[in-house]
Amino acid sequence: MLTVAVLISGAGSNLRALLEAARHPDFPARIVVVGADRDADGLAHAEEFGIPSFSVPFRAFATRDEWGEELGRQLEVWSPDLIVLSGLMRLLPASLVARYSPHIINTHPAYLPEFPGAHGVRDALASGVTETGASVIVVDDGVDSGPILAQERVPVHPGDTEHRLHERIKPVERRLLIDVVRGIATGDIDLKTAS
Ligand code: GAR
Repeated sequence: MLTVAVLISGAGSNLRALLEAARHPDFPARIVVVGADRDADGLAHAEEFGIPSFSVPFRAFATRDEWGEELGRQLEVWSPDLIVLSGLMRLLPASLVARYSPHIINTHPAYLPEFPGAHGVRDALASGVTETGASVIVVDDGVDSGPILAQERVPVHPGDTEHRLHERIKPVERRLLIDVVRGIATGDIDLKTAS
């Protein structure tokens, strides 16, 4: 059984979808812990599902490296096979990425390499494209630049707001994320050859 740690910053709707998938007895992965870089609303999902959680507030540390060291210490307690960044809105320090690479994946609300970064939905809208998408990637040292594991197009509708478009992307992200975690757990996706 693949053990998974999920890191979030926000509402955790993708986390919740993963928690729901993972409680099914046939799902080949288990979420062992949920972590956040702040007092994220999404931590409530972990509590509801009886999954341990922790918060390592970014702002409590002088440097990204110090924050990353504490995050790494918290993760080590659970020895996860896989770390899922599910709306974690912080770059991990390179040392933490190196420690877990290639067993760290990230979900992103755009069709990478289009529109990387913290505002993938906003940037797609602002550029006037007629379609964007969702991607699940392996995390590397760059910003949303790692190998792509799964992605799918999502149309931009006339009059879309950032919120409306994001809400249409999220169900696609959830499906891709669940499929990728399942694929990693069954061995259908080999992160070492994907990277
Ligand atoms: C998701 O759309 C995720 O892809 C995005 O934040 C949202 C989190 O939603 N992440 C990024 O933009 C990272 N660059 P959620 O907290 O409701 O799951």
